[in-house]
Amino acid sequence: MTREQIILYLQGADDATLFALSAATKRREVGDKVYLRGLIELGNRCRKNCLYCGIRRDNKLVERYELTVDQVINAASYAYESGYGSIVIQSGEQQSERFTDYICELVTAIKELSFQKLGITLSLGEQSESTYRRWFNAGSHRYLLRIESSSPQLYSSIHPSDHLFDERLACLNTLRSTGFQVGTGVMIGLPGQTLENLADDLLFLRDLNIDMCGMGPYIEHPNAPLGASQYTIYHRFKLSLRMIALLRILMPDINIAATTALHAIDPTGREQGIAVGANVIMPNITPFELRASYELYNNKPQTDIDLSGFNVAINEWGDSKHFRKHKR
Ligand code: 5AD
Ligand code: SF4
Repeated sequence: MTREQIILYLQGADDATLFALSAATKRREVGDKVYLRGLIELGNRCRKNCLYCGIRRDNKLVERYELTVDQVINAASYAYESGYGSIVIQSGEQQSERFTDYICELVTAIKELSFQKLGITLSLGEQSESTYRRWFNAGSHRYLLRIESSSPQLYSSIHPSDHLFDERLACLNTLRSTGFQVGTGVMIGLPGQTLENLADDLLFLRDLNIDMCGMGPYIEHPNAPLGASQYTIYHRFKLSLRMIALLRILMPDINIAATTALHAIDPTGREQGIAVGANVIMPNITPFELRASYELYNNKPQTDIDLSGFNVAINEWGDSKHFRKHKR
């Protein structure tokens, strides 16, 4: 597909054809199973100050927390016993010896409690190569780090000046050489973002040869300074479905998540994401009483998803087929 064709589809030229093609591509390449990753929001302390995010460093209105080892173990045990196959540990960005050790301890304990069976994905921001290596050696094997936007210009308009595009890209390359399956993604409908930007995001993801992708609509947060998108919420939702569908066609065998931000806009958002090409869902398994403190954007859902309508994979890691084919 050419850049021009991508832009036409993003404009909504022919959703019916696009979604039929992406659904057929998905069925042929990765089947129709939905893989689960139980999402554990480990803590909301963050050293960064992204202009869009509700748990940015300067937001004094959010109460900060970090889960204890026992709380994480309980959540991971729940995931294991429920047949989830894998979990994601996510938190605000922290860089310290203590934090690095803490994650090693958690990963080791979770591998033990699940007899090495539970897959572990980390989503803990930018870190040094040696930290990534220690976490990989402890037993985690996938890592999510969104590039947020592939346009360095747009990137600098949504981040403080000490938060650099090139450093983020370098981290993605380090993660890959460390041995992780690498996931990244972008936000859709950012202030100032054009359809050309979004088309370039898709081509960027393809050229980076990623294994997994999570992307979803930008949603304003009342205590974050970035401000309003020029797209209506409904338009951002539609654009997100088109982005998922186009990525499935461009990268047929990767894992694509139907993200929580879709669900924040429409209660059936994740179901619609799955229908047009996504194959991963990340149900929140954070202890319920702390979910309100991990509010990245306004009205982030705190409820569980009803999985009854899906062909859910039980006890499977659901590794990216792309990664296995291209094992580096
Ligand atoms: N709207 C949508 N997504 C957001 N994220 C952070 N803040 C927002 C927001 N206001 C996303 C970023 C980050 C991920 C953990 O959450 O893409 O990488
Ligand atoms: Fe921190 Fe991530 Fe929020 Fe940026 S998006 S402020 S790195 S939690």
